[in-house]
Amino acid sequence: MSRFVLISPSADFDGRLRQAVAGGLQGGVQTLFTKSVPAGPYDLFAQLNQEQPEVLILGPDVPVDEALRFATVLDLQVPDLTVLLVSDADPELILQAMRAGVRDIISPSADPAQLRVLLERACQSLAGRHRTDQPYQAPSKGRVIGVFSPKGGVGKTTIATNLAIGLGEAAPMSVVVVDLDLQFGDVASGLYLNPEHTVTDAVSPAASQDTLVLKAFLTVHPSSIYALCAPDNPVEADHITPDQVTRLLEQLAEEFQYVVVDTAPGLQEIGLAAMEACTDVVWVTAMDIPSVRGLRSGLDVLRQLDLLPEGRHVVLNMADAKSGLSVQDIEATIGAPVDVSVPRSRAVAFSTNRGVPVLQESKKDPAAKGLRQLVERFVLAGHAKNQRKSHRRVVV
Ligand SMILES: Nc1ncnc2c1ncn2[C@@H]1O[C@H](COP(=O)(O)OP(=O)(O)O)[C@@H](O)[C@H]1O
Ligand SMILES: [Mg+2]
Repeated sequence: MSRFVLISPSADFDGRLRQAVAGGLQGGVQTLFTKSVPAGPYDLFAQLNQEQPEVLILGPDVPVDEALRFATVLDLQVPDLTVLLVSDADPELILQAMRAGVRDIISPSADPAQLRVLLERACQSLAGRHRTDQPYQAPSKGRVIGVFSPKGGVGKTTIATNLAIGLGEAAPMSVVVVDLDLQFGDVASGLYLNPEHTVTDAVSPAASQDTLVLKAFLTVHPSSIYALCAPDNPVEADHITPDQVTRLLEQLAEEFQYVVVDTAPGLQEIGLAAMEACTDVVWVTAMDIPSVRGLRSGLDVLRQLDLLPEGRHVVLNMADAKSGLSVQDIEATIGAPVDVSVPRSRAVAFSTNRGVPVLQESKKDPAAKGLRQLVERFVLAGHAKNQRKSHRRVVV
């Protein structure tokens, strides 16, 4: 019996789907190479010559209106069957698909790795529905890692994008980087993305009520992470409220293992709302007096307000032994140990201009080494060994 059934005339999509399943899922694939959807569930089962599969994929080149009609019928008559629709997602279609009981929308160009993640999620949702007689379990929450600093230009975006790429290697398709430097964010340029949708869409009522809609507004980066980029213009950014940011991060944390948040300099309302949602904060300072002092005052204020999240990671960026400051001076000023040191490096400046973070190219650059250490704090976190080392001093 096949667990996954595809209806589509596309041999190419069929091939990718089979690769996805072969890459680590149990159960087989059966494909009906046709454009026309069956008249009803029993017609479908007769054509398949089997009992009910678990997941039905209404594939490329099947007319969308027919696919939605069929999904609606299945939703009523065979609620245990998970239906996925392959189509380019626009907000209108997403709503229609939702109403038809479609579980997820898959891009026609999805590669096998992306398909596998979606199929796994579809199977999990089925397993979840079958457990309804068991006590309610809160959805497991991902880690929300915010990158903050009172001063601009110290490397927040560089660190956020590299952290997301590094975590994506450990957890493909389970990482999203969110640009909450709403006015002047540059995650899109740092990752060489040209996003169709931005935070503005992601906080719209349709998306905040439905995480499936929200996910359709994310942009996929070639390194198997998702990005949610800042609005195109500062005026749009002005309309986004702290409450919307809180809701957005809550939804993303339910969906992703890691949510990496890039922020604007300073401690503005949006940033504080984000900080409250963070499980971890990466504090960035450069190796100069203004940014070190800025961090110290920032930490003092937050401590007084009792707003400091538990997970604290201090990154000394653009570390340079000739700066006239020592790590000890910096630690004494900010009142916390430096956890990771990222040296000043030309490769980093160059990578920003190209839109290819250093960790994407796995360069043997000293800065890449520091950035990897930061990634490891989160990948290995939870392991007792790492916890012990987590506030070890660094030496520049
Ligand atoms: N370790 C580093 N070595 C050299 N240049 C760096 C380093 N970290 C950041 N930069 C450069 O500094 C500039 C500002 O970095 P960015 O990440 O945009 O800072 P922020 O987001 O805090 O404003 C960028 O041009 C970036 O390439
Ligand atoms: Mg920035």
